[in-house]
Amino acid sequence: MRISELDTPALLVDLYRLEANLDRVAGFARAADLKLRPHTKTHKTIHIAQLQLARGAAGITVAKIGEAEVMADAGIDDIFIAHQIVGTKKIERLLALAQRVTIAVGVDSRDAAAPLSSAFAQRGLRLPVLIEVDVGLHRCGVTPEKVLDFARQINTLPGLNLVGLFTYPGHVYAARSQNEVAGITAYECRIMNELTNQLAPIAEVTDRVSGGSTPTAPHYTAKCGLTEIRAGSYVFNDRTQLDRWSARPGDCALTVLATVVSTPEPGRAVLDAGSKSLAADLAPDSPGHGMLKEDNDAILVKLNEEHGFLDLSRASIKLKVGDKVEVIPNHCCAVCNLFDEMVAARNGEVLETWPVAARGKLR
Ligand SMILES: Cc1ncc(COP(=O)(O)O)c(C=O)c1O
Repeated sequence: MRISELDTPALLVDLYRLEANLDRVAGFARAADLKLRPHTKTHKTIHIAQLQLARGAAGITVAKIGEAEVMADAGIDDIFIAHQIVGTKKIERLLALAQRVTIAVGVDSRDAAAPLSSAFAQRGLRLPVLIEVDVGLHRCGVTPEKVLDFARQINTLPGLNLVGLFTYPGHVYAARSQNEVAGITAYECRIMNELTNQLAPIAEVTDRVSGGSTPTAPHYTAKCGLTEIRAGSYVFNDRTQLDRWSARPGDCALTVLATVVSTPEPGRAVLDAGSKSLAADLAPDSPGHGMLKEDNDAILVKLNEEHGFLDLSRASIKLKVGDKVEVIPNHCCAVCNLFDEMVAARNGEVLETWPVAARGKLR
């Protein structure tokens, strides 16, 4: 079947581009002697996680216990939950998971760490944890000057085993230049390296110093201070990655196939894909909510839930009602969470359909 025969909106993956993206970042990691532990919240799809592992990924990263459960059920047995686990229901599920796969979680407060420790200690278990360090995103994480003290506190908790440090340099998405991206990467590495040395007398964390993102991935070097990177968006890329110099339009592997349902006046077309198919995220610099793969000057300037407002005034593509187009979204991770399945195609020919098995696993 050709992709043009699919009903819309449909989530499409260009297999050539996907494979090239997987290879490129696996290559960056190899060249810098780093493990790659990709963040699978981007695709939430078992098949793609398996492609990543087949290319040498050391394990996977997830954000949610529900995502970890889906991946564990599929036989993936080394999972890092790069998130704080808070609440008794989640701790119960984590206990169950920890008894069937190798799992580690992030911690950044005694308040979250103590109940985890009690639950694991009560069953005679120790949960591997990584301290989250804030290197500039100012989301979660312990500030570097407080990490040593926090590590001492973790060491007093019998149900936890401090095995590493992790950070996420997500402030890179606000970088204004490639030099700034390189500077953010260098700072991340320096801080993580200093902390690893600082912790040496009290904890063995040298094997698990985790960081990275898609924009920073090309900038790591051997012995940079990290041991693994957790890039996520690189599998597909999107307009956010184009804005942050980590991809070119030809690297964008994920699109939403949509149909033109109205052409109310010259220079305008309306698609049957709105915020419920494309998500409402904005890109750092590029205007609007997406652009056409067929003509990057055709921009979705506005979304309603089920309508995409396409501005064709600068575009050369001519569209009529019934035409199908592919939209490159602003944020691939948010879009994957909106579809039950993704259709994998090569040269416009549909080859496979993959369930987005972890979509909606928000808990
Ligand atoms: C903790 C953590 N690690 C890794 C990633 C992957 O980052 P990226 O999509 O920039 O590659 C994310 C993305 O949000 C994240 O939150």
